Amino acid sequence: MTEDLFGLKGKTAVITGGGGVLGGAMAIALAERGAGVALLDIRESAAGEAAARVAAATGGRAIGVACDVLDEKSLAAAAGDVVRELGRVDILINAAGGNAPMATTSKEMAEPGDLPGAGGASRTFFDLDVAALRKVIDLNLLGTILPCRVLGREMAGRGGGAIVNISSMTASRPLTKIPAYSVAKAGVSNLTQWLATHFAPLHIRVNAIAPGFFLTEQNRFLLTDEKTGGLTARGGAVIAHTPLGRFGTPHDLAGVLIWLVSDASSFVTGTVIPVDGGFSAFSGV
Ligand SMILES: NC(=O)c1ccc[n+]([C@@H]2O[C@H](COP(=O)([O-])OP(=O)(O)OC[C@H]3O[C@@H](n4cnc5c(N)ncnc54)[C@H](O)[C@@H]3O)[C@@H](O)[C@H]2O)c1
Repeated sequence: MTEDLFGLKGKTAVITGGGGVLGGAMAIALAERGAGVALLDIRESAAGEAAARVAAATGGRAIGVACDVLDEKSLAAAAGDVVRELGRVDILINAAGGNAPMATTSKEMAEPGDLPGAGGASRTFFDLDVAALRKVIDLNLLGTILPCRVLGREMAGRGGGAIVNISSMTASRPLTKIPAYSVAKAGVSNLTQWLATHFAPLHIRVNAIAPGFFLTEQNRFLLTDEKTGGLTARGGAVIAHTPLGRFGTPHDLAGVLIWLVSDASSFVTGTVIPVDGGFSAFSGV
């Protein structure tokens, strides 16, 4: 019966970064299909508020849990809370992630006048802050690996499940300015394929979504001009290279997400699905 393929009744989903824009929207989509949801976030109040919004919007069970995805003890404690409150873990969405201004170059290409000592004011690869680079790589890559370990163990012990990682357009063809974020997301796509193979005998499917450009707190400073409210040159270039001609809205992720975590994709594992308005298909010419 194909009409039952997309249902999630009786399932429990954990969403890391659940207090964020995309994580919160994905939690609502999962709850609308009948899943109980646990929103994990390092910002405890954001997790709680997002869980309250899910419950209000869907009438489903939703809890907010304080959790640092870079700390296995914190993840284990969160997993314990989820099992106690919601009974089990069937689905993991790794949506905690982000970039940082000090891990971002100010120009697309470095020129001789930008070199240290040349007196230029630009921030090139040479000037990036090592702590910021490490933080971005850790958050996006290790912050996906560790939840897959802790919550994956929980799923494996109960017969299997589905994991969806959140990669990015920058994983397959790097965007300018954001080197740490790019290598980390490339790692997330690679990890998705590696884990899909490793976890297959445990009946855990592992896939990823590679969103295009969605206006959220982490990229607003790159895509829109704070003063005018209009697009930056980069924001304009994104729209010009997106055949569907707009930024994504969080709801645009819902269909692919539900497909990837439900029985509708029972023979699909190790894929990275772009949800990008055609950005990755268009060469720009
Ligand atoms: N917005 C986009 O255009 C876009 C595009 C491609 C991929 N993504 C990815 O989608 C995911 C969600 O992004 P978003 O736009 O909703 O960003 P967001 O900043 O709104 O959400 C990220 C959430 O992660 C949480 N977080 C940060 N560090 C954490 C930690 N150590 N432990 C637990 N939680 C932590 C933050 O508190 C925040 O609530 C990220 O992985 C991001 O890289 C976003």
